[in-house]
Amino acid sequence: MKVIKTQNYETLSKEAAKIFIEIIKKNDKAVLGLATGSTPVGMYKELIEANKNGLDFSKVTTFNLDEYIGLSKDHDQSYDYFMHDNLFNHVNIPEENIHLPKGDGENPEEDAKKYENMLKESGGVDIQVLGIGVNGHIAFNEPAEELKVETNIVNLTESTIEANARFFNSEKDVPTKAITMGMGSIFSAKKILLLISGENKKEAADYILRSGKIKTECPASLLHLHPDVTVIIDKEAFGE
Ligand code: F6R
Repeated sequence: MKVIKTQNYETLSKEAAKIFIEIIKKNDKAVLGLATGSTPVGMYKELIEANKNGLDFSKVTTFNLDEYIGLSKDHDQSYDYFMHDNLFNHVNIPEENIHLPKGDGENPEEDAKKYENMLKESGGVDIQVLGIGVNGHIAFNEPAEELKVETNIVNLTESTIEANARFFNSEKDVPTKAITMGMGSIFSAKKILLLISGENKKEAADYILRSGKIKTECPASLLHLHPDVTVIIDKEAFGE
């Protein structure tokens, strides 16, 4: 696990974008694994700038980590909406190259299986960006004794519902279920970039970077087992 420490969120976003840009420059058909949440927004802004300056997205393919169950694509808190708002509407990526798990299907379990198959058929994600939950979750793989391998349906924990309530009118509007890539789906990416920003992530960051241990109760700590992980962490999350 390679660790890059940055002074602040802005430099974290620039460093993360640099790595993404490098991959797309080397392979214009790169398969990108994307995340929602506030952490990657700065990196997406940098990618939009790079696109304006000539970086071509017309052949890339994207796969997002997760989606709430029960929200349609055009709900303004769906991850589909978020990704269009923060990235896809501003770069020249064809709509048919964009993939997000389906949150409002009749049969979510079936949709999860289909998504996992699509991911496999894509030939594998070249670079996957991840944020981290305050409780150490990655995608919606919540702390637990056992973790799922493939894309699946999960119940969100109280801590995640509380953390995500800031985006909704009230906590009771936050969906309680999500469809998420599993740990195996995430680990099938060739390269993983974990972004950790802000003081509220310090406890999870401490466990991952200082304890020398791994546990399923901190899903992100299992990233120590992947051969190519870069963590970019800002000073607030890393501490002294
Ligand atoms: C989002 C996702 C989540 C977030 C995590 C951190 O697609 O998979 O695991 O990365 O909840 O969210 P922020 O960045 O808002 O702190």
